[in-house]
Amino acid sequence: MYLVGMSTALSTTQEFIDQNRDRFLAELLDWLKIPSVSADPAFKEDVQRAANFLLEKLKEAGADNVTLHPTAGHPIVYGDKFISEDLPTVLVYGHYDVQPPDPIELWTNPPFEPTIKKTAKHPDGAIFARGACDDKGQAFMHVKAFEAMMQAGDLPCNLKFLIEGEEEVGSANLDTFVKSNLELLACDVVLISDTSIIANDVPSLTVGLRGMSYVEVKVTGPNRDLHSGVYGGAVANPINVLCDMIASMHDETGRITIPGFYDRVQGLSPAERDALNEAPFDHEAYKKDLEIGEIGGGEKSFTPLERTSIRPTLDVNGIWGGYIGKGAKTVLPSEAFAKISMRLVPDQTPEATTRLFKEHFEAIAPPSVKVEVTPHHGGHPAVLPTDSDEYRAASRALAKTFGKEPIPARGGGSIPIVSLFEKELSVKCVLMGFGLNSDDIHSPDEHYGLFNFYKGIETIPHFYREYAAIKKGA
Ligand code: BES
Ligand code: MN
Ligand code: MN
Repeated sequence: MYLVGMSTALSTTQEFIDQNRDRFLAELLDWLKIPSVSADPAFKEDVQRAANFLLEKLKEAGADNVTLHPTAGHPIVYGDKFISEDLPTVLVYGHYDVQPPDPIELWTNPPFEPTIKKTAKHPDGAIFARGACDDKGQAFMHVKAFEAMMQAGDLPCNLKFLIEGEEEVGSANLDTFVKSNLELLACDVVLISDTSIIANDVPSLTVGLRGMSYVEVKVTGPNRDLHSGVYGGAVANPINVLCDMIASMHDETGRITIPGFYDRVQGLSPAERDALNEAPFDHEAYKKDLEIGEIGGGEKSFTPLERTSIRPTLDVNGIWGGYIGKGAKTVLPSEAFAKISMRLVPDQTPEATTRLFKEHFEAIAPPSVKVEVTPHHGGHPAVLPTDSDEYRAASRALAKTFGKEPIPARGGGSIPIVSLFEKELSVKCVLMGFGLNSDDIHSPDEHYGLFNFYKGIETIPHFYREYAAIKKGA
């Protein structure tokens, strides 16, 4: 039974966290060993195992109604704790699926054998593993913060957990699940830890996410592969053509040339741009970290901070065709392919953007080739207010544990379900993530700082307290 206010005989939440630090970490490492790669059907059983692991941990922590909801894809994990009608309900969202670890040979340690190492940004050590930061490490903070509060008899609100297994592939089945379980998921706010802070001594709260339109293109030239000497020079090479087409989609100022692409892009006022650019950004350190001579991408008339937050992009994520085996083969290939993502900002929509892309791609294709555009997943952008109860509660929580007020910052990544939550559940989302942009999520050697993991566990209970206090006063 849940004991309200019985803190005398029990340790406090913070004491419980302090006493169980090593166990919390050991459990996370066990979870990280399960390769829950949602994109690749070969990992289907591992994804299921990762879901079951989480299910057990939620039960152990004290959640009720812990259930695995099968979907057409990977299962959704749900659990809750109801304390009182008079208290607000927080829905915690996260994802237990991870990106493919490829290219595996570029990892210093194997991606599913978590290793702890110190780095310049993480002098206390960081966990190196796929999913360490995105998002198993961050989702697990919520389970452990909850466990600590249960053990201390100090949970100041009702909680619901919704942790899915398909975020990295576009959350299509979660979309359906949310729409058909509005009552189960009813809440006052959604709390998500799946974003970054600016630095470990510069706390921030994410107040914007970009949307996404993701397409795959195929360019077909001659009906078969040809000898590049016998036919080369006369027959248009579909890889050359694809490269020309892609290159033409940015002009010399870095602007995307698809007609109508910017029509729905909201401009920011000079004051808003100034505020955004006040966030610390070290141009030289950025270049040095990535070993690049220039920050050369995107629109030249915007700062790098703006280009990665309030401006849309078009990027090739992969391109292939022809001979890519060892040595050289002279061939004029029949086909060429590319995967292209466009990051979107308010008020662009994935549907309209995908349509504009397709029309343009077909329009610029020369008669020497045929083209096909296949849409993948999409997601809407989101902007969150800073003058809300939700933001204030998160801001106070971070101020408590970091010792300074967080900076509101718009993030460049996408969490497609955020705009759906806001629409379907009529609530605000709080993006209280604890990663660093330099944690190499989606890349080889992804890692998550131990400082960040424990800071998250300590901050989450403060959010619940601050939020419940604000709502009580309201
Ligand atoms: N956690 C990220 C999103 C993120 C990372 C937002 C850092 C802000 C800062 C999430 O798991 C992710 O990678 N999302 C995908 C969405 C896509 C698969 C639809 C992305 O942004 O590429
Ligand atoms: Mn994530
Ligand atoms: Mn991700």
